[in-house]
Amino acid sequence: MTTIGILGSGHVGSNLARAAIAHGYDVVLSNSQGPETITGLVAELGPRARAAAPAEAAAAGDFAIAAIPLPAIGYVPVEPLAGKVVIATINYFPQRDGHVPAIDAGTTTAPGLLQAHLPASRVVRAFSMINAAEMSGDGHPAGDPKRRALALAGDDPAAKRQVTRLYDEFGFDAVDLGGLDESWRVDPGQPAFVVRQDAAELRANAARASRV
Ligand SMILES: NC(=O)c1ccc[n+]([C@@H]2O[C@H](COP(=O)([O-])OP(=O)(O)OC[C@H]3O[C@@H](n4cnc5c(N)ncnc54)[C@H](OP(=O)(O)O)[C@@H]3O)[C@@H](O)[C@H]2O)c1
Repeated sequence: MTTIGILGSGHVGSNLARAAIAHGYDVVLSNSQGPETITGLVAELGPRARAAAPAEAAAAGDFAIAAIPLPAIGYVPVEPLAGKVVIATINYFPQRDGHVPAIDAGTTTAPGLLQAHLPASRVVRAFSMINAAEMSGDGHPAGDPKRRALALAGDDPAAKRQVTRLYDEFGFDAVDLGGLDESWRVDPGQPAFVVRQDAAELRANAARASRV
């Protein structure tokens, strides 16, 4: 049995929990306000879900998902995630999150900030470019014409293979953008962001991305 530790139980965390449970995973969900504030969600998700504090969710997970706002990166528990794959759904919206000069200057990325905070973890950007509700509701088997592609990026090849398998299980094709420094290609505002696309279209949209 594989357990996913989920940091953040909002739109993304809850929908990825739903998808994970549907595909046979156990999940441990956490948020900032405490496990007692997500008892309704956990009850709805059923016996494969439980709630815990972020450090306990991180420790319980064979791998983790960080589905939190960018300003919360500094609060992600470091030690319990050491050595683990951490999927970052985090996007940067300066009008919501405040300006981060290093992202604005193009010297880092939203998942790059998480990787810097978690130097012993293997961060992979994934599920960042699809609306939350579609994460659990729009997966399709390989070969289905409705199957869409999602991007991933990261610096650890084995971690990216693991996330590619997870995408496949959840019903999505994977397009590897390269390292975390290439992950900006699917940022908000770029041609690939939240667009319904197959793998060829996603590759083309990522190639058309521009930082200016
Ligand atoms: N919504 C989408 O369609 C979508 C799609 C792709 C990517 N994203 C990105 O994914 C991230 C999450 O988005 P969302 O829409 O799910 O946001 P959301 O609905 O606002 O949920 C955010 C969650 O993060 C939790 N959180 C905040 N600080 C935390 C901390 N220090 N430790 C643990 N949990 C913490 C919040 O807990 P409390 O409520 O207790 O504060 C809440 O459960 C964002 O970066 C967003 O840009 C969103």
